[in-house]
Amino acid sequence: MTTAPETTDPLAQKGKPRPIKAGVDDLVEVRMTVNGTPAVLSLPARVTLADALRDHLGLTGTHVGCEHGVCGMCTVLVDGQAARACLLFAVQLDGADIVTVEGLGRPDDLHPLQEAFGRNHALQCGFCTPGFLMSSYDLLSTKPEVTEDELPEELSGVICRCTGYRNILTAVRETHEAHPDGIPAPGNCAHRALVGRATGQGGGSTDGREAGEDTAAEGTRRIDIVLPDGDPTIAVDIETEIGVPVDAVWRVFDDVHLLARCLPGAELTEDLGEDHYGGRARVSVGPIKLSFKGVAHVVAHDRAGQRLRVLAQGQDTGGAQTQADIVLRTEATATGTAMRAEAKVYLTGRIAQFGRALAGDVSRRMFEQFADALREAATSGQAPSGPVKAPSALKLLFAPLIDRIRTALRRGRRTAR
Ligand code: FES
Ligand code: FES
Repeated sequence: MTTAPETTDPLAQKGKPRPIKAGVDDLVEVRMTVNGTPAVLSLPARVTLADALRDHLGLTGTHVGCEHGVCGMCTVLVDGQAARACLLFAVQLDGADIVTVEGLGRPDDLHPLQEAFGRNHALQCGFCTPGFLMSSYDLLSTKPEVTEDELPEELSGVICRCTGYRNILTAVRETHEAHPDGIPAPGNCAHRALVGRATGQGGGSTDGREAGEDTAAEGTRRIDIVLPDGDPTIAVDIETEIGVPVDAVWRVFDDVHLLARCLPGAELTEDLGEDHYGGRARVSVGPIKLSFKGVAHVVAHDRAGQRLRVLAQGQDTGGAQTQADIVLRTEATATGTAMRAEAKVYLTGRIAQFGRALAGDVSRRMFEQFADALREAATSGQAPSGPVKAPSALKLLFAPLIDRIRTALRRGRRTAR
């Protein structure tokens, strides 16, 4: 049995203890806000906050060094206070507000502390740097009167400083001097990927419903999909010619089950009502295979305006999250239908580590496969024969080479004629 310790919990210090009595493998539901995004997790009581962040939400910036509260590498903010994520059970933190190093700044708009670390060569091996950043943030936000002489001792809670301790001190001092009236708040805390609780973990909706009010038999919740603020991770804008009349294309768009069968690696599993659908999608990128479960909402089905708009979001069991805003437009042409797809795709968690280029290639290949399947379905009125497979990593890697060979062969044939 696991009972929450009484003294290491910052919530307890704030007078909000959450005593937990559960078997180590009993699942306990926890709701917390992580970097501005509400998350609902169903976790065994033995899972630490560090493991919940890394393994269940895909936020791998928080590192675990000693697991004994000594090294400070797992430092995060819990309700605004620095805390060792390895010493807290996640189930203690129901209702807590967590900020991890991912919430500190955006890649295109770093937090001043991150900028100062970079400028002063204070970025170390990557393992301890998140701990230093979060500890420094906590120091400057809770003790703005700290003096330069006090910095070494104040930052000694993170013990790995094998390469650049002095540079870290300089970076923190500089940030302190640049912001004497208070360090700016974390800049990357916003409402992001929201997913249903079908997998028992992931971001939750803030639509006001409580647990247990799920509308679907399998537990997937019909939720309002709220897209993140800011630029998408990938923006896709692709046009293709489908050699079938526009009416035939729209007959597929009218039948959401048939349409779903045309999506590579996708499967529609539930009709949640009011144009919301539950489903699964599989994507392979390199050695990593992702299996998303999520929801899609057809927000516009405008045959007269020739526009279909779908919002989708999903999460895989490893914490990768994706959201997409997809608009398909059609236009009759002399040879059939011109179809244009515009998609904004937002990725968080481990999937976000793939370069934009590779993720963009995956999206483009998926769209090409979708267009082929759509052509087949519109021509035959039937679902494509066999499932439309998600693009394979090998194909993606060799696609540019194959395209080049094809072009060379075509050129060669023209020259030979
Ligand atoms: S891993 Fe938490 S303090 Fe070392
Ligand atoms: S572990 Fe980070 S520099 Fe040594």
